[in-house]
Order: sequence, then C-alpha cells, then structure tokens
Amino acid sequence: MMEKVQQVQAQALEEIKACEDLQQLQQIRITTLGKKGPIQSLMTMMKDLSPEEKPAFGQEVNECKKAVAAAIEAKMAVLEKAAMNRKLEEEKIDITLPGVPFRTGTLHPLTLISQEIEDLFIGMGYTVAEGPEVELDFYNFERANIPADHPARDMQDTFYINPKELLRTHTTAIQMRELEKAQGQLPIKVICPGKVYRRDNDDATHSHQFMQAEGLVVGENITLTDLKGTLQFMADRMFGEGRQIRFRPSYFQFTEPSVEVDVSCHICGGKGCPVCKGTGWIEVLGAGMVHPNVLEMAGFDSTKCSGFAFGVGIERVAMLKYGVDDIRNFYINDTRFLKMFDRFD
Ligand code: PHE
Repeated sequence: MMEKVQQVQAQALEEIKACEDLQQLQQIRITTLGKKGPIQSLMTMMKDLSPEEKPAFGQEVNECKKAVAAAIEAKMAVLEKAAMNRKLEEEKIDITLPGVPFRTGTLHPLTLISQEIEDLFIGMGYTVAEGPEVELDFYNFERANIPADHPARDMQDTFYINPKELLRTHTTAIQMRELEKAQGQLPIKVICPGKVYRRDNDDATHSHQFMQAEGLVVGENITLTDLKGTLQFMADRMFGEGRQIRFRPSYFQFTEPSVEVDVSCHICGGKGCPVCKGTGWIEVLGAGMVHPNVLEMAGFDSTKCSGFAFGVGIERVAMLKYGVDDIRNFYINDTRFLKMFDRFD
C-alpha cells in the first residue's frame, strides 16, 4: 500500500517537472489533486485497512499530497516568472535616439586618379616609386640630359631653394633616381606619381603646382611598340574600352625619339565635339624611348638595353574624366566641389 503512495507521488512529480506550460500545469493540479484524482482515490482505499494501519497510511498520503501541491506551487512561480520576462522582452521600446552622423572626408579627385593609374600599372608588374619634392638640380635636369644653360630648361622654370636645389618640375627626377638605384640591374619597371612645380601664372589650364605619374621601363629589346601597347592599355582602362591612340613627333631632352600621345575623344568617340575642339583627338601625355645619354649617365650600356618612358598629367586626366573645366578647382579646397567625388570613392 505504501508503495502505491510512493508511485503516485513519483509520477505526479515527474509530470510537474516535465511541464513547461502554465495552463497545462493548472490541468495537472486538477487531475492529481482533484476529487477524481489518484491521491483522492488513495484516501478512499483507507476504508479497507485495519485500524492499526490507518494512521500511518493516512499520514503518508497527506505527505504525498503536500509534496505534490508544493511542487506545483514552485513550478507555477517559475513559469509565471518566465512568462513575465517574455512579455517584458516583447514589449520593450527602444527609447534611444539615433547617434549624430559623423561626417567623413572623401579622397581628393587627384588622389583617386593617381591611385587608379598606380593600380593599373601594379597590375602589369610595375612597382611604385616616390621621390623628394625638393629635388637636386642633378636629378631633375642634369641626369635627364638637360645640362645647365640648356634652352630646354626655359620650358620648366621653377622655384629654386638655392642654385643646387629646386622644387622638382617633373617626376622624371624620380626615374633618374630609380635608374641610378638599379646599379645596372635589369629590368626596371616603375611608375612614379607625385606633385611637381613650375613657375607659371595660374589660369583655367595652368597651375604652378600639379601632379604627374611617369612610367619607366628599361630592359633588353624594349621598343616603341611596347610603349604603344602599354599606352593603349592605359587609354582603354582610363577612358573606356575601344579608345584609339596616335603618336605625333615631339621633343624631350631625355627621350629619342619623342612623341606626343593623343587618345580618341571619349565624349564623341572621334566625331568631333567641344571637348576635343572638333578634332576627335585629345592630347594626354608625352613619351618616348629613353635617350642613350640618360642610360649611359646612370651606368647602363645603351647598346645592350633600351627603354621607354611616358609622363601623364593627373589634372588633365581628372579634368577629362570628370568634366572639370578649371584646373584651379583642384586647389582652392571648395568643399562643394570636393564633395562631388564622394561617389567615386
Ligand atoms: N617629363 C615630361 C614633362 O614633364 C613628360 C615626359 C615623361 C615625356 C617621360 C617623355 C617621357 O613634360
């Protein structure tokens, strides 16, 4: 008989333990503690016992009833708390205000073009080389085959710090340093971006400060065809697939032969428009085969190697690509202008 009580108790406690729902727990209370429940039916079994057995059994059943009721109460409290927490979580309102947006700057359009050019040459195996803006006359002019008092210097008059030091007039000066650094080792493949300076009166198309990116390749059997292929690739990437390029004879002291390079107009496709001044072509850069004197001065045997060089004006490319009509816009720091390049970032 006593075992029966234990069994009823164990089963009821098991059910209570497994229950995770308040309503279900109410149901368990009714079925286990109610009039028709198992504990009540234990009570009715009392009448079959002897008078000696009755008190102990009665006490046992009471204990069982108490234990089950207590277990239900405890579980009830746990489930009610959980239900309350769930409700609080669901009804939570976010009362925080959105933060104050932090305004970030954007990359300068000239930086964007410069990086674009660097990336496309890095993709062809070039390395990026830099040099000082306050440069020695030696690397800016002498090594570039422009000796003192040569008339070619007039085209590139600049700001002199003293007779030997100046603000560099072209990034060709970096190329001359790279040639020297190579100590006769070939091949050389560098792209040299940077700021340059010239004594110029500023207007819509001239600035005393501007940027260039110059490329230099020296190796065995480097020809004008290699230069043309390289520049064609650059034109396609910078101005869109299918651009044509053409070479016109020109003169630079450090290249021979020298060429001026035109790209077919990216606006009209070559038919003629105001941007290309009706010609269908836009002049974008100067280039040529590295002058033997330049190679020899840097310690190379010009009968065994050859090279090409080109120099592109970053402002010019930026003006063409973004439709900017005054070069001074790049330097006056008008944030309304600079902000327009957000979307190119
Ligand atoms: N250094 C020349 C300039 O500034 C450009 C150039 C570079 C031309 C390399 C030929 C070869 O005008």
